[in-house]
Parts: sequence; C-alpha cells; structure tokens
Amino acid sequence: MKNWFAGKRILVTGGAGFLGSHLCEKLLESGAEVLCVDNYFTGRRSNIEHLFKNPHFEAMRHDITFPLYVEVDAIFNFACPASPVHYQHDPVATTKVSVIGAINMLGLAKRLNAPILQASTSEVYGDPSVHPQPEEYWGNVNPIGPRACYDEGKRCAETLFFDYHRQHDLKIKVMRIFNTYGPRMMANDGRVVSNFIVQAIENQPITVFGEGQQTRSFCFVDDLIDGALRLMTTPDDVTGPINIGNPNEFTMMQLAQTIIRITGSKSKIVHMPLPQDDPRQRQPDIEKATALLKWSPTIQLEEGLKRTIQYFEGALKK
Ligand SMILES: NC(=O)c1ccc[n+]([C@@H]2O[C@H](COP(=O)([O-])OP(=O)(O)OC[C@H]3O[C@@H](n4cnc5c(N)ncnc54)[C@H](O)[C@@H]3O)[C@@H](O)[C@H]2O)c1
Repeated sequence: MKNWFAGKRILVTGGAGFLGSHLCEKLLESGAEVLCVDNYFTGRRSNIEHLFKNPHFEAMRHDITFPLYVEVDAIFNFACPASPVHYQHDPVATTKVSVIGAINMLGLAKRLNAPILQASTSEVYGDPSVHPQPEEYWGNVNPIGPRACYDEGKRCAETLFFDYHRQHDLKIKVMRIFNTYGPRMMANDGRVVSNFIVQAIENQPITVFGEGQQTRSFCFVDDLIDGALRLMTTPDDVTGPINIGNPNEFTMMQLAQTIIRITGSKSKIVHMPLPQDDPRQRQPDIEKATALLKWSPTIQLEEGLKRTIQYFEGALKK
C-alpha cells in the first residue's frame, strides 16, 4: 500500500474535517503529496495545522460546489457536513455539496483520468428493514424528511459515480462509511459518541433518545482510514459500494454506561424524545471488505473510547 501512494499527488476534499484530517495525515505518512481542499464549513484549521510544516502538504480554501482545476493523481471526495446538526443547518447546501460537489469532482477525475473515491454513508440504507445491511440492500429512505438532504444527496452522488463509471469508464470507488468516531470530532455537533463523552467529562446529564435500546456500531477512525486507503489501491474492477464499519453492535444505554465508567463521571442518564426518522438499528455486513480489501476493524470500542476521551479531555481544557 505504501508504494501505491508514494510520490503521488492526492486531493482530499473535506480534508480539514474529522475524517479528512486523519486521511491527510496517513497519506503523508505513506509518502504522498497531499492537496487538502476545504471551505471550513465544519472543518477547522486546528485539525490540520500540525501538517502545515510538512513540505508535501498544501491546503486550499475552496467550495467544491464550484469547479476546481488542479493536477492530481487520485481524489478522495470527503467534503460534506456529516452530523445531523450541521447538515440540517442548511439542507440545500448539503444537497448541493453532495450532488454538485460530486459532479465537479467527477468532472475533474474524468479530465485527469484519475481514480476517485467517494465517502458515501450507511445513511443510504435509511431505516433499514434488512439487518445487518449488505451492499445489495437498496435501503429505506424517507425522501422528504429532515434527513433527506443528506441521505438522498449521498444516494444521488452514488448514482453519479456509477453513471460516470458506465458512461465514461471512470475509475470509481464507493465506500459506505458506518458511524465512525475518534479524536477531532467536534464537541457539540450532536453525534452520539462526542455528545456522551463531553457530557460525561463535564458531569452533565447524559441525554439518551427514547429508551436507549436503539443500536449502533462504532468504528474507530484509524480503522476507517485504513479501509479507505486499501479501497483506493484496489484494481480498477473493484468499484464498490463497500461497507466499512465495525459490526459490533451496542445499544445507546450500553454506550452511555461504558463512557460513564471509563471517565469515572458522576453524570446521570436522562431520556429525551426520539428524533424524527432516527434509525432503530444499524450494523454493517463487512463480508465484501474482508474478502476484497483483506480489511476488518482492529480497535474495539473500549480502546477507541479511551483514546477519544483522552482527546476530549485535552480539547475541553483548551
Ligand atoms: N464520521 C462518520 O461517522 C461518517 C459516516 C458516514 C459518512 N461520512 C462521510 O465522510 C465524510 C467526512 O465526514 P466527517 O465526519 O469528517 O465530517 P466533517 O463535517 O468533520 O468533515 C466534512 C468536511 O467537509 C468540508 N466541507 C463541507 N462542505 C464543503 C464544500 N462545499 N466545499 C469544500 N469543503 C466542504 C467541511 O468544512 C469539513 O471539513 C463526509 O462526506 C461524510 O458524509 C462520515
């Protein structure tokens, strides 16, 4: 894998975000030149400032809903707000970045004849009626609900990727990312792991939606990035979509209790009404990733939570 990236110029859109910043870091470690493009909607300079001193790293402020003319060897398209709080803040912008942003990046990939990897999402499965979700499952998405700007935007982006592949023979890789957590998540963006950790560190009540029996599976960021790098280096006939996530499933109550235990918090759990269209269950079927990428997650929840809690303890002190 190291050889594939060494000396290549790689574009990471959304590179100043949570996942994008870890991806930039790992690409630099693999010997690549990295061009990080971000409009800082949810990304932060502080996520990437430690990379500025690296001569192989370059950051550009740009909104990918506008065309971009650069010369690169491969593209990771990660630009898009990922948490409901942010993607629902300006839903039209969310659909625009998902769809128009994808068209612009696919156009760039076509001009350069470069492979392009799309950060898609398990949200394309909506509130799934099949469990766990294999890639063949078409999903159960409400097209007019408050989550649709993101879910349908990402679904349309997948359509565009496969049409560019069929129509223009573009080398595409579509990765369906399941819940991922780790250092550099934002403190108050409404994602459950960061929410619970911040509430626990501050000894505030931990807010669990509904009875807390809905389940999620959580992937630590290092595992996710490893999956993305592996997918990019696969032969051209491997297009995906491929699920990348950790199949170990936990209820929200289990998550809250584990975080309270690790932090030694005095927080009490309180229950809030379930948000609209909140999926009851989400768990990846990762058979394809295991077979095609020789990938499976290596960092389990307790270890990942410890590393994430350590990050938030430092970040909250600042
Ligand atoms: N973290 C997860 O659990 C998860 C799960 C599924 C899919 N994903 C996908 O992975 C990608 C990264 O997610 P993340 O968790 O790092 O989110 P994030 O919000 O931290 O990062 C997104 C980045 O994209 C940038 N961005 C947004 N609109 C842009 C635009 N128009 N032009 C340029 N940059 C723009 C933001 O400023 C930010 O830096 C997203 O595409 C998201 O949909 C993430």
